[in-house]
Amino acid sequence: MDDLSAFVAGLPKCELHVHLEGTLEPELKLALAERNGVDIGQRTVEEVRATYRFDSLSSFLAVYYPAMDVLVTEQDFYDLARAYLERAAAQNVRYVEAFFDPQVHMNRGVPFEAVVRGYHRAVQDADRDLGVAGALIMCIVRDLPAESAAQALEAALPFKDLILGLGLDSDERGNPPVKFAEVFARAREEGLHLTMHCDVDQENSIEHIRQALEDIRVERLDHGTNVVEDPRLVRFVRERGIGLTCCPISNRFVTGDMKADLIARLLREGVRVTANSDDPAYFGGYVAENLVELARAAELTRSELVQLERNAFEIAWLPDDRRARYLAELESYAAG
Ligand code: HPA
Ligand code: ZN
Repeated sequence: MDDLSAFVAGLPKCELHVHLEGTLEPELKLALAERNGVDIGQRTVEEVRATYRFDSLSSFLAVYYPAMDVLVTEQDFYDLARAYLERAAAQNVRYVEAFFDPQVHMNRGVPFEAVVRGYHRAVQDADRDLGVAGALIMCIVRDLPAESAAQALEAALPFKDLILGLGLDSDERGNPPVKFAEVFARAREEGLHLTMHCDVDQENSIEHIRQALEDIRVERLDHGTNVVEDPRLVRFVRERGIGLTCCPISNRFVTGDMKADLIARLLREGVRVTANSDDPAYFGGYVAENLVELARAAELTRSELVQLERNAFEIAWLPDDRRARYLAELESYAAG
């Protein structure tokens, strides 16, 4: 292992942008397909990997959603989250807030309860036996109608204690944040934290970022790097300490560019940017690989790598005492 990889390996890390359904590795996909008698059209890991070819958000989503058919029972959701949390723990991720997409499962006839209970049990077990703590953020699938989002939120409310926040993901084109203003207002009333994807290089990127920040009043932006195009919005996020959960390797897949220089520029301007994995089974990098590749591409110093993790623990939706403990652990590592 080179020096940079070794430094990143030991760094106490916080992952704030990972889709649990995006952690479905080919091996587990095949095992679940067999367990549930689902024909996915491929029989070997190589055949599955060969389908993981995309050059845009929509071509990625066209592979990503059908793969979810292999997830049927509460145990399947447990096994998926457990496998991710084992990898996260092995990379010294100390805390994770993970997204999931309940509407896609509910539309296939899987009850909300099976999804959330499976994921939640995996998070609880990992806290106890892997040393990685976590929480769940339910995402609204933005290319489905607003009524579907409202129904999903209603289905989730009886399990509110198992969910930390509400996010927004999937295909941004033609699906602006304000489409979901009512659902997000309701979630806020119910005490959920709010975040939204503002994907990289989308049509109307800046207007969508503006809506998310000013109309919906999200606490974080997922991706959100196009904010650099509008100095007023850069000031807005910097002054309010709003975090951006960037995903360098994912950016390379969907836009051909990691956006490393933009992420580094925002970091150096004092915006709370972070580096995360997004859909690691599809994009081939967990959080450590994202940090290493970003650091190489943008020539980040060690103290800038530490700052990325400091940002992440600071913008995480953690109680103050736990946040302080993670930050102390980070500072102790940074001090060598
Ligand atoms: N953007 C939008 N939808 C998604 C993503 C993403 O990065 N990952 C999984 N669903
Ligand atoms: Zn994402």
